[in-house]
Amino acid sequence: TAQDKINIAIDGPAGAGKSTIARMVAGRLSYVYVDTGAMYRAATWYFQKLGVSPDEVDKILQIVPDLDIDLLPGEHGQQVWVNGAEVTDEIRSLAVNAMVSRYAQIEGLRSRLVSLQRQMALRKGVVMDGRDIGTTVLPDAEVKIYMIASVEERAHRRYKEMKEHNQITFEQLVRDIAERDRLDQEREISPLRQATDAILMDTTEMTLDEVTERIVSLCRTYGSER
Ligand code: DC
Repeated sequence: TAQDKINIAIDGPAGAGKSTIARMVAGRLSYVYVDTGAMYRAATWYFQKLGVSPDEVDKILQIVPDLDIDLLPGEHGQQVWVNGAEVTDEIRSLAVNAMVSRYAQIEGLRSRLVSLQRQMALRKGVVMDGRDIGTTVLPDAEVKIYMIASVEERAHRRYKEMKEHNQITFEQLVRDIAERDRLDQEREISPLRQATDAILMDTTEMTLDEVTERIVSLCRTYGSER
């Protein structure tokens, strides 16, 4: 029944498989998938469009209250909208990749997105992926997963899903991912780290189905233990 719905938090570094897995788990349980990385990317796209750099914190804080980000179910997966513009593809560009960690360090932007994310999870039945879901956004999530994989494996996965192969080499991608991990882990506000009550899953040598199955069964176990 609806009352039995829980929230599931999936955190970890870029390319660990969080979004694909979160989508698959949501499909299996008929839950709603919330991609919080897409929200930071949409904000980044928007500030870049306005020509506001991540150093212009005062300007950013003026714009943040009017920032309106929506995640809508679409034909080919989730559609991302920011202030009336559909940016589903644009937020995966190299320009956004290169700068999103910088904007994601701004406290006023984070608190706005965190409150939007909490609203989305109020009615439960949400699978949310990101960096700070288990630690900050949904500390009471019933099931928390911290998903990791080797840097090489993650670069390999990103490379396969990229549309602009001619613009970047695999080696450059490895360096970008390592650098993004570092920025995400070292930032002062809500750094990427495993919640004390999160379950660690190393997916380097697991298939998508194996990971999904494992999480779905953890959710069922949770349900039967109450
Ligand atoms: O998961 P992703 O690669 O789409 O995330 C994009 C960026 O946003 C990444 O640099 C980390 C940041 N992010 C964050 O700081 N907090 C979240 N909850 C999700 C993403």
